[in-house]
Amino acid sequence: MTAYERLDAATTTLVLALNPDAPPRLLYFGAPLTRASDLAALDDVQDAPRRESTPDVAPAPGIFPVAADGFAGAPALSCDLSPLRWRQCVWRREADTLTTTLSAEVLRITLTWRLDATGVLVADAHLENAGLKPLQVDHLASLSAPLPAWAAEIGAFAGDWSREAQPRRFTAPPGAWRQANRTGRTGFQGATFLACEPAAGDFTGRMLAFHLGWSGDHALDVETLADGTRRAMLAAAWPPGEIVLGPGESLAAPTAYAAFSQTGFDGVSRCFHPFIRENISPRARRTPRRVHFNSWEAVYFDFDETRLMTLAQGAADLGAERFVLDDGWFLGRRDDRRALGDWSVDPSRFPRGLDPLIDHVKGLGMDFGLWVEPEMVSPDSALYRAHPDWCLHDDADARPTMRQQLWLDLSRAEVRDHLFDALDALLRAHDIAYLKWDCNRARFPSAGANGIAAHRVIEGVYALLDRLRAAHPQVEIESCASGGARIDLGVLQRADRVWASDTTDAIERLRIQRWTGLLLPPELIGAHVGPSPNHTTGRRLPMMFRARVAMFGHMGLELDPGRVTERDKARLRACIAQYKTHRATLHRGRRHAWTSDDGVACQLSVAHDRAEALALLARTGVASHAVSSPVRIPGLDDARYVVSLLDPWPSLAGRRIAEDSPWRGPRMIDGATLREAGLRLPLSDPETAWLIHFRRL
Ligand code: GLA
Repeated sequence: MTAYERLDAATTTLVLALNPDAPPRLLYFGAPLTRASDLAALDDVQDAPRRESTPDVAPAPGIFPVAADGFAGAPALSCDLSPLRWRQCVWRREADTLTTTLSAEVLRITLTWRLDATGVLVADAHLENAGLKPLQVDHLASLSAPLPAWAAEIGAFAGDWSREAQPRRFTAPPGAWRQANRTGRTGFQGATFLACEPAAGDFTGRMLAFHLGWSGDHALDVETLADGTRRAMLAAAWPPGEIVLGPGESLAAPTAYAAFSQTGFDGVSRCFHPFIRENISPRARRTPRRVHFNSWEAVYFDFDETRLMTLAQGAADLGAERFVLDDGWFLGRRDDRRALGDWSVDPSRFPRGLDPLIDHVKGLGMDFGLWVEPEMVSPDSALYRAHPDWCLHDDADARPTMRQQLWLDLSRAEVRDHLFDALDALLRAHDIAYLKWDCNRARFPSAGANGIAAHRVIEGVYALLDRLRAAHPQVEIESCASGGARIDLGVLQRADRVWASDTTDAIERLRIQRWTGLLLPPELIGAHVGPSPNHTTGRRLPMMFRARVAMFGHMGLELDPGRVTERDKARLRACIAQYKTHRATLHRGRRHAWTSDDGVACQLSVAHDRAEALALLARTGVASHAVSSPVRIPGLDDARYVVSLLDPWPSLAGRRIAEDSPWRGPRMIDGATLREAGLRLPLSDPETAWLIHFRRL
């Protein structure tokens, strides 16, 4: 007798079929079914008819398929137990969670699927060796799920240094699509993909979004079998032989997340943003995201106490609320070729120590943050000279560096203890509110003195972060990895924001922030106003454009105020003041992102109480016509709004718009008109960014 369980949220229903002694089958993951929906009929209508050339008992792959099921796809588990056949299956339903325990001889796996009220499915897998002999595990899926027939396209993200979050869309190929990451970080490509209806877009169409909450190697798969059925699988990855479970030992797979949307990308964000705010990184909600000033692009390694004090003064004058001292402050660090590991203040840069600078910063009304890169060691460092065997290395001679640095083996307790002591001492000695935690190289090789440590190193990073946060709960942490190479929900359980990219080029940033923001709410995405010309692309962009793009993330500055003209300073000050005024709307409200009919990049944040909304409408290139198309603004209510173009206007448009234009003052427009007909703005000029304020009447 088959039993059925359904998990429901406002925007989605999941249905599982449960048979004794067989893993549950996921029958349905889609739009909400009604209370009256007949789950047995749902099962019946999906039954594949018997035909030639199929097993006599049709395979019915469950939520954790292996080859013995007659399943011809990639198995959810590979280990040295063969044949692997589930002997027993027990499930338990409690509130929003279905827990399944599968047993095969000495092996026990517990799968926990919880459907959060936001519509996000949270899937955990926990494997235990209940036998007396060691068990080598080579693959353990966090989630394996069948895809509906409409999900014929894959959406994924290409990325590289300073080029993160490039969306790609393609038809699911016959055979398998795999995004494998072996860099030891989440990777510039991230750990998110989508299975989409071909027509799905910004606000329309069905899609399932998947994410693996893990900051290390992984494989994301969509496999299409010969019979046309398709599955998605998400799993951490490690070299064969790394994970051997002794008797009684267990392995927890990283958590996988999935959500269904029938309103395109917008619906995906509407599940993940509240989910992350509530469950993953709740601290960002409690404290307003302070405006940062970061010293990196302002001075790089060229600073002393006096120069930093001048920068701090300039930053405070512009409205910054936190001063983050980036790389270069610690013992012997003159450039990026040395000293990682020696986490004490360099007396040659700071003869009086760090405290006079911190006091100065605090005297200006800001708090103080510091850059660290704890997982790394430079061969030219006291730490390396004392412990040359602490880094990952294949043998004594071959220690290939990247950015002249090596990766410490954080799977070892003594390495973690040492780093904890160093960071703890730093945080105890100084009034530090914030750490920018960087990780600037890919992990290779993956062996340490105690064997392979590719997966275990990341577990070690999490353990260190957890310990540090427990000891210093008030210190905020940013996850950075050469920009956006460590953005995932695993690290975000231990960090308060991410550095989305090393590029501060605002045109690049429009794309990067939009697509990083598919899952992450804007307050978790570090977004700084950089210099012009930009240091990574060389592009020159107007201050208003740069500043407005940064306002739609966690805003900061990363330039030398001393080199900004007085006119641009006034503009920047105005934007920072606006950011502060509307911070709650930008960071607690509902964010929508889309591209207009003629190519304007749009973002709208609607306040939590829906009383106001703020939109960014940014055009990068020249429009095809001198008169631009109206921009339709979805996401507002069917109410009347006072609509204003906030000052200062982009300078060219400011000159061109007639003195008697209705845009010179606020206008009254209703939500339906804004949604269906839209607004025509003077947007045909390139590199113009408008800020539109909507006040609900
Ligand atoms: C990485 C980061 C930068 C900066 C430098 C410092 O590249 O992404 O933001 O902190 O390291 O070396």
